[in-house]
Amino acid sequence: MQRLARDWRREGVEIGCVPTMGCLHAGHLSLIERARREAGPGGRLVVSVYVNPTQFGPREDFSTYPRDLKRDARLCREAGVDVLFAPTDEQMYPGAFEEKYSTYVIEEELSRGMEGASRPTHFRGVTTIVAKLFNIIQPHLAVFGAKDYQQAAIIERMAKNLNFPVRVLVAPTLREEDGLAMSSRNKYLEGELRGEAVVLWRSIEKVRAAVRSASRPVPAGRLKTMVQRLVRSQAHARLDYVEFFEPESLSPLAKVGRGAHIALAVFVGETRLIDNARL
Ligand code: PAF
Repeated sequence: MQRLARDWRREGVEIGCVPTMGCLHAGHLSLIERARREAGPGGRLVVSVYVNPTQFGPREDFSTYPRDLKRDARLCREAGVDVLFAPTDEQMYPGAFEEKYSTYVIEEELSRGMEGASRPTHFRGVTTIVAKLFNIIQPHLAVFGAKDYQQAAIIERMAKNLNFPVRVLVAPTLREEDGLAMSSRNKYLEGELRGEAVVLWRSIEKVRAAVRSASRPVPAGRLKTMVQRLVRSQAHARLDYVEFFEPESLSPLAKVGRGAHIALAVFVGETRLIDNARL
């Protein structure tokens, strides 16, 4: 992959990439479409599919995470992707099984709250794998989904701080008709759990309406209680966190007005879902 990327670069070809963990859905296809537009007509498109073990915690769903490389390959082919890069664990983390893999990339500020607080080693895994993918694929631009808002902010910061010559682009979240954000993990939601999963979007809409109708910023505590109650009204849902923050710095806000950002994580049954939006 790296050799191919170097050849492309020598020929002056613009390389766009979309890093994924596979099990591609319409949300991923919209990222691929955006990468294609940005890379231009002579550009090349690389999609990586790799379920990265280092971003999963010990009690998380690494082993059960949905995988379907055949289907991913077909979708990539239909979307006109030039290369599907799907490495093995041994290729990505050489020597890891003998505990010889030892280099990580750590972002220390934006990674602290929210997903970072709930999943302590998660972002270290994400920044490390994305740095490795940037070094291998050598893209001019990379597209990430806004559904993982904190992840996108951290990757932007990492690319800037470590001088990766990559334009990091963030594309909007795609939603199902009822508002549920598209995610490979939605596959886990069976029966009534699928219906209950809409509680994330309903929480966002309810908070948004409250903030928009208020004449001054609303205390975050009041909005958090509102979300807690709504989530609790679902038989199988449990709120992990809801946070209100400044969209650039990700600093938590005590009072929430228009332009603030909300992010939340909710367990629906065993499945942990996240969502976020500008208010
Ligand atoms: O968002 C994802 O699917 C993953 O976190 C990423 C960016 C592909 C890194 O493994």
